[in-house]
Amino acid sequence: MTENKTFTMIKPDAVENGHIGAILEKITAAGFKIVALKYTQLSLRDAKEFYAVHKERPFFEELVTFMTRGPIVAAILEKENAVEDFRVLIGATNPAEAAEGTIRKLFATSIGENAVHGSDSDENAAIEGAFHFSGREVYA
Ligand code: CMP
Repeated sequence: MTENKTFTMIKPDAVENGHIGAILEKITAAGFKIVALKYTQLSLRDAKEFYAVHKERPFFEELVTFMTRGPIVAAILEKENAVEDFRVLIGATNPAEAAEGTIRKLFATSIGENAVHGSDSDENAAIEGAFHFSGREVYA
């Protein structure tokens, strides 16, 4: 069995709405081990760097404004098939299209304010995890 890692953020909307505990419970109940965890707030510079891949998109300014407006919870999660299984657990980017029982169906309000982030590949999981955590903050 190969354990691998994904990276997640509980976004400002879900933090504001009091869903940190419920979301972490869903994550651990689904078999993910939390190997790094941080309550923090992105600066404008952080958000622009983290989302640089989206900088040409029409929603980029909206995205960085949203992601910097309040604290987030950042975490690295470990599980067999972590990236793919976590994307199933969180559901579609647009909560209106997310499957019943998924984190976005339960806690997200719109395609922009969609409660949680999940890495889309092993490569991006490593980049995103390293953006938020030093090696000594990861308890794998
Ligand atoms: P996520 O997949 O975590 O990372 C990229 C984010 O861009 C995505 O979540 C949404 O929060 C946001 N996003 C994607 N599409 C749109 C859109 N059409 N309008 C506003 N925000 C969007």
